Amino acid sequence: MTVEFSFNGKKMTAGEGQSVAGALLACGQEELSRSSKYRRPRGVYCAHGHCPNCLVRVDGVPHVRSCLVPAGPGMRVETEGSAGKRFDVYRSLGVIGKFFPVGFQYRWFKRQNAAWRLWENQLRKLAAETEIPAPFDIPAGERLRADLLVVGAGPAGIAAAATAARSGLRVVLAGRRPRLGGSAAPAVASADLLQATEFVRSAENVTVVAPGTVVAGFGDQYVIDRGDRALEVTATASVLATGAYERAVAFPGNDRPGVLLTSGLHRLVCEDGVLTGARAVLVAEDDTAYRLAVDLQRAGLRIQAIVDSRPGPAVALPEGIEVLTGARVTGVRGRRRITGVAIGQRTIACDVVGMSGGWQRADELRYTVTSVGDAVVHGERATRIDPAGWENAPLPVLQGVGAVAGTMDADAAFTEGSLAGAWAAAQHTGGGNHG
Ligand code: FES
Repeated sequence: MTVEFSFNGKKMTAGEGQSVAGALLACGQEELSRSSKYRRPRGVYCAHGHCPNCLVRVDGVPHVRSCLVPAGPGMRVETEGSAGKRFDVYRSLGVIGKFFPVGFQYRWFKRQNAAWRLWENQLRKLAAETEIPAPFDIPAGERLRADLLVVGAGPAGIAAAATAARSGLRVVLAGRRPRLGGSAAPAVASADLLQATEFVRSAENVTVVAPGTVVAGFGDQYVIDRGDRALEVTATASVLATGAYERAVAFPGNDRPGVLLTSGLHRLVCEDGVLTGARAVLVAEDDTAYRLAVDLQRAGLRIQAIVDSRPGPAVALPEGIEVLTGARVTGVRGRRRITGVAIGQRTIACDVVGMSGGWQRADELRYTVTSVGDAVVHGERATRIDPAGWENAPLPVLQGVGAVAGTMDADAAFTEGSLAGAWAAAQHTGGGNHG
């Protein structure tokens, strides 16, 4: 089934459940926004709600992340700021920008009062990328009480929620994206994960808030941004299963539409079903590209090559894919669209580029919790579960499991999550160590 929506007044179609960003890409719309200063075009970058690249206006609501929102019938999608203008004089900054070193406005103008006052106004205009909508009533926040809040709906989060719920706990499971399961594609997810996902979806004692981003924690209270309203959850215990962010690789042109994180490329191809048949080059600084290349090939993306800056990867090479080791990308070819990547004198033709520069724990919520009064203790206790000795560990209030605790393997994360769920259940029934 397809749905029709509009983009800047033009009719577009989307597949069922496809994100707005995925649907736009399928219709050939790569540029979604522009950078504030040099007005450089921006396209989907992470496909996971972690960057400003895909911000658009949806039905008059500004700054909506189009990679997180499923396209709906009759939806009115518009670009914001410079991306929505036919002519923007500031785009010339992108051409003459090389004459202005990074941060020049602060170093130079800040020292000169009159010039700064003039420039400050311009900066404000440059940064104001969208019109503020007309005043509207802010919907009242909802409140919920739970025995356990699980933040993150990847393998670790789902396992924690399912295990705790099976023991009778009232669980709130919050995930940033509408789809549960994290980056584990349904095709390769383990039977345990699929079963647990099904269980949390249907269990009466589990409230799934997805999409729902936990934006702050105050002791045992957490605030979830649901997009159109806030939800305040008071939970006796919480499990942090927020995963990790993939890092970019530094090379000239890595910010252009069509160059994105390999995990984002994986989401677009394997979940949104776009870019099938396109040619891709994966730029690697860790083993992620090798792991995802097999999935991507299977889903229909044609991997031209993996360009790895390391002397040799520590994993088995995917069959039939050229791997260039000890090589670096020196540029991206193509004026309007990407047509290839340059590696020294050689150019490899492609339509899209994936980058894997390693992973960084998504643990900022932990620091939010630690910033509030007595909750400092909670943050310090946000430790990785030791599967052998968790019963004897001091009782943590905020447990970190899965990729946020450094466990990148989905099956191992699932096991950690199950242990955290069991810990929460034991605590609730008084069976755990309350020391
Ligand atoms: S938040 Fe949508 S592409 Fe990064």
